[in-house]
Amino acid sequence: MATATAHPNIALVKYWGKQDKPGNLPVSPNLSITLSELTTTTTVSAADGNQDAFWLNDVRVEDKKVDQFLVHLRERFAIENLQIQSSNNFPTSAGLASSASGFAALITAINAHADLGLNAVALSEWARVGSASAARSIFAGFVALVPPLWRAQTIAPPDHWPLHTVVAVTSTATKSVGSTEGMKRSRLTSPFYKTWATSGSDDFAQASDAIGQRDFDALAQIAEHNCLKMHAVMLTSQPALAYWNSATVACMEVIRQLRAAGTPVFFTIDAGPQVKAICLKQSVATVEQALQDVAGVQRTMSCGMGPGAQVTVP
Ligand code: DP6
Repeated sequence: MATATAHPNIALVKYWGKQDKPGNLPVSPNLSITLSELTTTTTVSAADGNQDAFWLNDVRVEDKKVDQFLVHLRERFAIENLQIQSSNNFPTSAGLASSASGFAALITAINAHADLGLNAVALSEWARVGSASAARSIFAGFVALVPPLWRAQTIAPPDHWPLHTVVAVTSTATKSVGSTEGMKRSRLTSPFYKTWATSGSDDFAQASDAIGQRDFDALAQIAEHNCLKMHAVMLTSQPALAYWNSATVACMEVIRQLRAAGTPVFFTIDAGPQVKAICLKQSVATVEQALQDVAGVQRTMSCGMGPGAQVTVP
């Protein structure tokens, strides 16, 4: 039996689109920050019966992505049937990409349980096979998922620049279209998809430079631009992938106003209606208060920069 933990991550340069080959390879380089506090804990042990069994937050579930992941893993390793118990200390409906922390914790726990001997680089490659953003949650701090090998790596540790993330939850409804399906739809139908895919390298280079120099304004500019460009692709997919609601738009406006009034903060939004505000520690209270005052915001959560996936019980 082995237990591992991993944390969600928030992309500042997004992954939206897969290459047309196996292995879940992103179409463009992407970059994230790993969060603290919000945690997935996964325990893996030998199954009682003759099949795998997966529990999520104490409920037995069938999860196609987990099943497929185990099929791929067993093409390479002989692994007995597994009992997998995974739980999140944050709401799965909060738009925090629980698949990222989920697959990062899962492969880390399986590696320890089945003695696969994988190092962090190989763990990241396997996490990517489960969900590409999960490759980034293997590592701490600022994390890049880049070609040619599409394994994630830390480009700066958490203490390089301890940014904070305030999540404004504007809806707890389940996502209408999941990421994998949405990406496929965008690739096939958005007239802006090609531009999105080819401009990703420039956005990545600009964001990496801004992080290297701790240039908040430069990072704010490129991260918001990249986020809005991804949503332009989503909105122009057919049928449209419209993930925002009116509170999402109101939060974006409040964040712009805060920044104009001198508070360093910027927004990013993934495939859902929640808004993530990135700021410095001294602004967390101001940002949280401003977002809580927006009509339609149900709650806020705040966290700092987090560690990578780790085994807690070998
Ligand atoms: C908008 O990693 O969940 O959050 O690889 O199909 O599992 P799959 O997709 P996933 O997509 C994340 C999309 C995003 C942007 C990002 O995190 O880079």
